[in-house]
Amino acid sequence: MKILVTGGAGYIGSVVAEQLLERGDTVIVVDNLSTGKRAHVPRDARFVQCDVGDVERITALLRDNAVDVVMHFAAASLVGESMSDPEHYFQNNVAQTFHLLKAMRAAGCSRLIFSSTAAVYGQPIHIPITEEHPTAPINPYGLSKLMMEQALAWYGQAYGFRYTIFRYFNAAGATTHHGEDRDVETHLIPLLLQTALGRRDTFTLYGDDYDTPDGTCIRDYIHVADIADAHIRAIAHLEKRPAAIYNLGTGKGSSNREVIDMVKEVSGKDLNIQTGSRRAGDPGILVASAQKAREELGWQPQYSDLRQIVESAWRFNMTNDK
Ligand SMILES: NC(=O)c1ccc[n+]([C@@H]2O[C@H](COP(=O)([O-])OP(=O)(O)OC[C@H]3O[C@@H](n4cnc5c(N)ncnc54)[C@H](O)[C@@H]3O)[C@@H](O)[C@H]2O)c1
Repeated sequence: MKILVTGGAGYIGSVVAEQLLERGDTVIVVDNLSTGKRAHVPRDARFVQCDVGDVERITALLRDNAVDVVMHFAAASLVGESMSDPEHYFQNNVAQTFHLLKAMRAAGCSRLIFSSTAAVYGQPIHIPITEEHPTAPINPYGLSKLMMEQALAWYGQAYGFRYTIFRYFNAAGATTHHGEDRDVETHLIPLLLQTALGRRDTFTLYGDDYDTPDGTCIRDYIHVADIADAHIRAIAHLEKRPAAIYNLGTGKGSSNREVIDMVKEVSGKDLNIQTGSRRAGDPGILVASAQKAREELGWQPQYSDLRQIVESAWRFNMTNDK
């Protein structure tokens, strides 16, 4: 298959591109390197530095290479940044994605796998969160993804688009060559690993007074290789189900305290942890029901045990420690 991977110089896109190449697909990565890095693009992928909103170039790429499926990872995805600069999120995640869809239509390519997020649900009203849980995002990032989800339904109806939407919970972990390596890091596990490696002096835990067994937030961590596997399964599934939405999580949460303890154990380092106050809008518990993806895609997370996640990320950080 010929797959166009947007955002393939970023974390998840680079791992999916790597796995597509391993199974023999032709991969074209489009990335504007706004947060991604050229070095993250797998060697055997063709790389085009360009914005997903560049209709002319993307149309030509899709048409000239007879691309079968677009996997759209490119986005801005920092919740806090979206609160202070919503325009950037609507421009990058909504306006640019509409341009990408326009290019797909112009080139006659109508198969899309779209990266969405648990942030579309907002404050959970029940746990685990099923795909039927009401969507009520509480930040512009989540809303920007939900807007595209809703638009895709109409693209399916009017233009015959076939699409799979994945709502990732907390992507984590690494493969041998690809992992989280951002200049601005906000995710729990890489921040803890950076602290263990001495690149940060302290780690601040946001709140330990939640209504959870140890008082810290609980999140559902899903290994990036398991996310990649779901995307690969979705390619064939597009032919069976023209429009589908799946959570990607494990159904099991880990508390921040449990993650901290696991990082200490795996790294063999003691960490300087400071406890700060809660962050506005952080729900106590976010755990997915992943039953639908298991049933319909035959997907079964293989690497998402917390120890496996932390060990793989630690190995990646040790190898890439400068
Ligand atoms: N990491 C997570 O835990 C998580 C959770 C839920 C959803 N997601 C979604 O998954 C996708 C990938 O996330 P990630 O963590 O790999 O992010 P990332 O920031 O590591 O990668 C995003 C990539 O997209 C590129 N990009 C951004 N805007 C672009 C544009 N307009 N044109 C071309 N390239 C552009 C960036 O340069 C970067 O390489 C995003 O859509 C994100 O919203 C991620």
